[in-house]
Amino acid sequence: MSLKLSVIGAGYLGAVHAACMADLGHEVVAIDTDAAKVASLAAGQPTMYEPGLAEMLARVLPTGRLTFTTDYALAADADIHFICVGTPQRTGENAADTSYVFGSADSLAPHLTKPCLVVGKSTVPVGTAFQLRQRLQAAAPAGAGVRLAWNPEFLREGFAIEDTLTPNRFVYGVDGDTSDADVKLLDECYATPLASGIPRLVVDFSTAELVKISANAFLATKISFINAMSEVCEAAGGDVVRLAEAIGLDDRIGPKFLKAGVGFGGGCLPKDIRAFMARAGELGADQALTFLREVDSINMRRRARMVDLARQQCGGTLRTRRVAVLGAAFKPDSDDIRDSPALDVARAIQADFATVVVHDPKAMDNARRIAPELLYADTPQEAVRGAHVVLHLTEWPEYRALDPAELRGLVERPMIVDGRNALDPVKWQEAGWVYRALGRPFI
Ligand code: UDX
Repeated sequence: MSLKLSVIGAGYLGAVHAACMADLGHEVVAIDTDAAKVASLAAGQPTMYEPGLAEMLARVLPTGRLTFTTDYALAADADIHFICVGTPQRTGENAADTSYVFGSADSLAPHLTKPCLVVGKSTVPVGTAFQLRQRLQAAAPAGAGVRLAWNPEFLREGFAIEDTLTPNRFVYGVDGDTSDADVKLLDECYATPLASGIPRLVVDFSTAELVKISANAFLATKISFINAMSEVCEAAGGDVVRLAEAIGLDDRIGPKFLKAGVGFGGGCLPKDIRAFMARAGELGADQALTFLREVDSINMRRRARMVDLARQQCGGTLRTRRVAVLGAAFKPDSDDIRDSPALDVARAIQADFATVVVHDPKAMDNARRIAPELLYADTPQEAVRGAHVVLHLTEWPEYRALDPAELRGLVERPMIVDGRNALDPVKWQEAGWVYRALGRPFI
């Protein structure tokens, strides 16, 4: 059955959710306060790089089922309103800034004149849903007819469409015993993916809020675990790549999220673990999450280690050296440079008086805006020209496909440090390069 939906916030999560819901056959109004973003999306141009999104917009926009607007009034007759706004880290603090969540609900509330379901998808501190329900019901003309549910998303950048349409689970956080109709409505909304047997869990508000943040905390912990092993391998002379392979074969551990390297970045994992610690502190449960402080510092230490390795490879000083950085995005298949380890390392090296030349297949414009002090090259070949050391910091497939023999002829010295353990050491060594990597013996 086709429903009328509104999606508040047309950022990463909202733009993808709106397009996917329209693709499923629903009638969707997507609202954002940023008029430029709205105009761009309405013209079929995503404001960030996400594989498949431009194609999906090209498919659904001509059907008329998807509208982008700045006007909340156009959401008035929707059956479900999805709140998809960001919850960034507050400046100078660890806690999440929920002002966009409450602000968007405040803007929406006066238009809620008929019974409807508001569904939070943003990652929020536990306890937000209760407050939001009260605030919405107090401000909306429909009062208690406005229901709330919490339906966290688990999408990964680069796989956002796949993760929206075929997530590995749906989680509905619902409001007590009176929520059967809310569950039914969400089931109707997700009928197509649910029909393929995707598990659906119905829980309370707090559990739903916690599922999202604890899943991200677990993923961050897994990455920092293997990066801690990387530190031990470096001290003991072990090989973290082989170690990860061996422990990952135990299916209780599993091979995913055991890639050692410069660590995690992006708009979610770093800020989510910090916000989670801050919220646990407010709840008097800070001891339960002190280990996340360690997860965070292991992660940051990897970046520092990368800078040290670059310095070592340059003979003990970065001053006057030319350093090529392959990668600026926080991960491949994304142009997102939020808390990007690659960019962080590049800036630290530049601050140590080196000349840093960066290449990234998609994130150069974003990187230039945030780090105008760095030099940028349009091709990897141009980036490495005259370099004393090359750092591989985002594992784009095109970097794996580079020809080390060709690059060998362009650099000042054939030194490469693989910060993602994603290149083939033998291939580079055979072409005459000195290959170094995090957590691996100098093979
Ligand atoms: C993450 C969660 O995976 C997703 O479920 C949630 O909804 C949002 O946050 P995302 O930020 O898109 O998604 O990136 P993800 O693929 O999880 O990678 C996060 C970071 O960890 C990247 O910087 C990546 O390079 C790094 N990483 C990942 C590793 O260093 N090693 C690994 O083994 C896996």
